[in-house]
Amino acid sequence: MRLLSLSLCVAVCTALINPILPGWNPDPSILRVGKDYFLATSTFEQFPGHPIYHSTDLVQWKCIGHALSRVSQIPLFGSGGPPDGGIWAPGLRYHKGTFYLATASRFVYGPEAKLMSRPFFVTTQDIFSNVWSDPIYLDSLGYDLDLFWDSNGDVYATWSGINNSVDRIYGIYQHKIDIATGDALTPTTEIYTGILPQNSSARPEGPHLYHIGQYYYLLIAEGGTSAPHRATVARGPTPSGPWTFSPHNPLVYNIGLDPNAAVRWTGHADLVQTPTGEWFGTMLGTRPQGGNESHISLGRETFLYPVTWTQDGWPIANGGKPVTEHIPDVLYDKSPLAPYMNEFKSKKDLSSDTSFYYVRTQYKPFASVASGGGLVLKGNAYNLSDRDAPALLLRRQSAYEETFETRLDAFAPATNWTEAGLSVWYGEFLHHDIGVTLDPAGSGKRVIITRTLTYPTVITYTPLKSASGNVRLRAVAQSTSYTLGFAEGDDEEFTTTATVDAYYVTVPPPNGAFFKGTSFGLYNTGNGRATLVKARFAYWKQIPVVPAVNAQ
Ligand SMILES: *[C@@H]1O[C@H](CO)[C@@H](O)[C@H](O)[C@H]1NC(C)=O
Ligand SMILES: *[C@@H]1O[C@H](CO)[C@@H](O)[C@H](O)[C@H]1NC(C)=O
Ligand SMILES: *[C@@H]1O[C@H](CO)[C@@H](O)[C@H](O)[C@H]1NC(C)=O
Ligand SMILES: *[C@@H]1O[C@H](CO)[C@@H](O)[C@H](O)[C@H]1NC(C)=O
Ligand SMILES: *[C@@H]1O[C@H](CO)[C@@H](O)[C@H](O)[C@H]1NC(C)=O
Repeated sequence: MRLLSLSLCVAVCTALINPILPGWNPDPSILRVGKDYFLATSTFEQFPGHPIYHSTDLVQWKCIGHALSRVSQIPLFGSGGPPDGGIWAPGLRYHKGTFYLATASRFVYGPEAKLMSRPFFVTTQDIFSNVWSDPIYLDSLGYDLDLFWDSNGDVYATWSGINNSVDRIYGIYQHKIDIATGDALTPTTEIYTGILPQNSSARPEGPHLYHIGQYYYLLIAEGGTSAPHRATVARGPTPSGPWTFSPHNPLVYNIGLDPNAAVRWTGHADLVQTPTGEWFGTMLGTRPQGGNESHISLGRETFLYPVTWTQDGWPIANGGKPVTEHIPDVLYDKSPLAPYMNEFKSKKDLSSDTSFYYVRTQYKPFASVASGGGLVLKGNAYNLSDRDAPALLLRRQSAYEETFETRLDAFAPATNWTEAGLSVWYGEFLHHDIGVTLDPAGSGKRVIITRTLTYPTVITYTPLKSASGNVRLRAVAQSTSYTLGFAEGDDEEFTTTATVDAYYVTVPPPNGAFFKGTSFGLYNTGNGRATLVKARFAYWKQIPVVPAVNAQ
C-alpha cells in the first residue's frame, strides 16, 4: 500500500523529504533574515564547531561555514575535550544587523562532572564571511543557551542548568544580560521545569523564547537524549513566565503518537516563520535500522515539519501527526543525495570544502594538498584510540547505505608502528580501521591492518604483495553493518577483512555518550612515535545509495 501510493506520487505529488540534513546534525536551531534561512547544529569534540547551513527555500541546504573555526574560540586540546563533550547545542539569532550564535563549551563530560559548561556567544555582521568574533562569556554555568531581545531592548539569556542543591535535577534558568559584555544584570532564576515529573531523567533543556502575538512562548526539549526525548511548549505574559502548558503538548514526540514510528528520539525543536507567514519547525530525530534502537549509525539528524496554530494560539507540528521522512504536499522534493568525489586537485579542494572536520583542534596543521593533486596527511604520534588529536580528517556519513573509498598511493611504512588508512569513526572508543603498516612479526613486508573496536579490540593482519604499490581501501556501510576491504594495484576485486555490526558505532561502552553519529576518516599515525612517512590519498569518494523513497 505504502509503495503504491508513493509510486503514484512520483508523477503528481510533491513532498518534504526528511531529514533535511542527512547524517548526524543534532540540536538544530533555525533563523530567517529576509529571504535567507540559516540553521546551526552541534559538533561536540569535532572541529570546526557549529556548521552554519543556508537555504532560501527550506529544502536545499548548503553549509556556508562554521561559527567556531579558530582555536581562540574553542580550544579543544587533549584531555580538555572528552568524546561528546566540547560544543553543545547552538541558539542562532539575529538582532539589528548582528548574528548571534549562542552555545556552551563543555570540557568535562562524565560521572565526575556536575556542571562544568560555560555558556558564551559569538557574533558576526556578515554571516557569509565565515568570520565570527571571539567568545563573549556569560557569568553563569549551564548549556543550551538562548538569547532573546524583548521589545523594550532587554536581553534575556535562558539556558539549561542544574540546581546543585538538589542533586542533578535540571531546570531552565534565566537572567538578563548586558549584550556588549555578557555580564549578568539580574540574579539567576529558575523560570521553568517543564511538564515531566522532576527527576534526574526529566532534563528540561534546549530552551527557545519567542514573542508571538500577545504571548511569550517557551519551547523546550524534555525527557533526556534518547527514546523519551520530546519538545514541549508553554506560554506566559512575560519572558520569565508564569507559564501555562500547551494543552496540545508535546509539540513533537513521535513514539507518543505511534509506538512503531520509524523516526524516533524526536525533540530539541526551534520555530521559524516564512516571509509569507507560514510556520515551520526544526527538530532532531533518529532513524534506527534493523528493528531496534541498537543500529543508529547516522545518529541524530535534522528534520523539518510544518507548524500550524490553533485558534487559541498554540502551535501544532505536522497537523498533530508524527514527523516522517516523507511529508506529502509540503514544499517540494529535494534532489537525491549526490555522490561525493574529491581528488584534491587544488588547495581549495581542501581549504574551501566545509564538509571536513578534525577530532578536536590540531596542534599544528597535518592535512595539505600535494602539488600533483591528492590529499597528504603528515602523521603524528597519537593513535586513533588516544583521547587527543590524531592526524585524522573526517567527513560525515550521509546515508545508511553508503560506500567510502580512497586510494593510498605508494605508502612505504618505515616501521611496524607507521600506519595510514581509512576509518569508520565515532570517537576514540568506537572506530573501525583498515590501513597499511609493516608486518608486526618483523618480516619487513607490508600488511593490511584491520582493527575493530568491538569490546575488545580485534586486530588482524593480511599480507600485501607489493612493497610500495597503491592500495585502495573501502568501507561499505549497510543499514546495520560495515564491511572493510582492500584491493591492491589494479586488482578489481576487493578482499574483505572484517564485517562489523553497526551496534559498535551506536552503543558506547559504559560512561560513554552517544550524541554524534558516524563519520568516515583518513588517517596517518606513528602509534606513539613521530613518523616521517607522509600518506598520500588520491581521492575521497562517498557514494550514498539513495533509498527508493528519495529517488524521485
Ligand atoms: C534549588 O532548589 C531548592 C530546593 O527546591 C530551592 O530552594 C532553590 O531556590 C533552588 N535554587 C535555584 C537557583 O533555583
Ligand atoms: C522519572 O519520572 C518518570 C515519569 O514519572 C519515570 O518514568 C522515571 O522512571 C523517573 N526516573 C527516575 C530516575 O526516577
Ligand atoms: C537488536 O537487534 C539485533 C538483531 O538485528 C540483535 O542482535 C540485538 O540483540 C537487538 N538488541 C536489542 C537491545 O534488542
Ligand atoms: C593507543 O592508545 C591507547 C589509549 O591511549 C593505548 O591504550 C594503546 O596502547 C595505544 N596503542 C598503540 C598501538 O600505541
Ligand atoms: C612492532 O614489532 C615489534 C617486534 O616484533 C613488537 O614488539 C611490537 O609490538 C610491534 N608494534 C606494533 C605497533 O605492532
